[in-house]
Amino acid sequence: MENELSRRLQAVADFIPKNSRLLDVGSDHAYLPLDLVKKNKIAFAIAGEVVKGPYQSALTNVAQAGLTKAIDVRLANGLAAFELADHISVISICGMGGRLIADILEAGKEKLDQIERLVLQPNNREDELRSWLMANGFTLVAEQMIYENDKYYEIIVAEPGMAHLSAKDLRFGPYLLAECSDIFKAKWQNELKKLNHALNQVPEHRLEARQLLLEKIEQIKEVLL
Ligand SMILES: C[S@@+](CC[C@H](N)C(=O)[O-])C[C@H]1O[C@@H](n2cnc3c(N)ncnc32)[C@H](O)[C@@H]1O
Repeated sequence: MENELSRRLQAVADFIPKNSRLLDVGSDHAYLPLDLVKKNKIAFAIAGEVVKGPYQSALTNVAQAGLTKAIDVRLANGLAAFELADHISVISICGMGGRLIADILEAGKEKLDQIERLVLQPNNREDELRSWLMANGFTLVAEQMIYENDKYYEIIVAEPGMAHLSAKDLRFGPYLLAECSDIFKAKWQNELKKLNHALNQVPEHRLEARQLLLEKIEQIKEVLL
């Protein structure tokens, strides 16, 4: 199929419920909304983009596909891309740092009451994003780890509800931990290598820095046992 999604975005697409009204924040080419609408999985989406270049690419792609009625491309910062009257039910925010995703949600949190599901794909700082979700009335309902182009990506799916996550859950992800897949193990083996390398670079007298690294290393070893 033309414009086939990456494995990462396909995994995100699989978590968007049928007939959702989707806001995709940071939709630089509108790939995700285009794919979902073309496959008749959803009938309406907003592709929100804050930077003009990517916004233009999204506009062009949607126009070329003849889908301007189904996909509204809007130049806007984060959740400012939608109004309550749009009846958005699902928000996806992918391919950004976990802290930026949390900041985007925080800045528009008064608009989250009507949202049934968040599908988030942070590139890093997943623990900070899980903390934000837990502190703001969202519970995790699914997680997935994808390996593509030499990178590990986590997808976090959250819905309104109460969550109690331990420090270990926040770092590793409760569903990912329980599943403990081969990709999950490979990611944390890789992290372990990086942390051991970092530890070797820290001089013996920097006790506090070494202790911090050692704690992180121990936590990973426990999980990989
Ligand atoms: C690395 S791209 C990821 C694109 C796509 N979501 C994906 O996962 O492949 C991140 C996009 O998010 C946009 N972006 C960053 N902060 C944003 C914000 N606050 N509101 C809307 N878009 C934002 C950037 O301009 C960029 O086009």
